[in-house]
Amino acid sequence: MKQTTTTDMPSRELRNALGLYTTGVAVVTCAGPGGHRCGVTVNSFASVSLDPPLVLWSLQRSSPSLETFEQAGHFAVNVLAQDQQDVSDRFARPAIDKFDGLVCSGGLNGVPLLPACLARFECRTEACHEGGDHVIFVGRVLRWTATPGAPLVFHGGRYDRLVGHRAALDRSAKATACAACAA
Ligand SMILES: Cc1cc2nc3c(=O)[nH]c(=O)nc-3n(C[C@H](O)[C@H](O)[C@H](O)COP(=O)(O)O)c2cc1C
Repeated sequence: MKQTTTTDMPSRELRNALGLYTTGVAVVTCAGPGGHRCGVTVNSFASVSLDPPLVLWSLQRSSPSLETFEQAGHFAVNVLAQDQQDVSDRFARPAIDKFDGLVCSGGLNGVPLLPACLARFECRTEACHEGGDHVIFVGRVLRWTATPGAPLVFHGGRYDRLVGHRAALDRSAKATACAACAA
């Protein structure tokens, strides 16, 4: 296997190498001061800790949504299903109102929750860390829901799907939610 050091390598090659790490796709949403809604497509979402329940994701510093996410104090991670590529595309492009025509429900602190997602994690922002050209948001999960199904997948810079995935079987499995949601 060819070894490359980061000092002598174009960043596109590093990006390609990092893209071999396969992820799901999520849209992170928030409601800023005055109820201004923001949403961005991400694949940087990851779980951090179960006790306490912490997750993270990162947002590029150049994003026009950065200030709103920093001020909002809460966010929701909406995990996309295989058939939601259009939703991913919608929130991956700048637009005056990315939510136009979408029927969202209202989450904690007025955070918009997207319909038909596989899972949703409603979080309070615990910390914002420096991450080079990104800001890393750490959130404490306050409420969550999950519905088994096939996820939208991102691999090698493209959308993909799981082959032979047990999602078809999982569809008969029950949706789950935290106690706060079930109440
Ligand atoms: C599959 C996928 C994953 C992405 N992951 C991230 C991410 O983790 N962080 C990020 O800042 N941008 C990510 N992007 C790019 C943003 O979605 C895109 O720049 C979007 O326009 C950001 O919203 P904004 O215009 O409000 O900044 C991703 C895009 C796609 C299609």
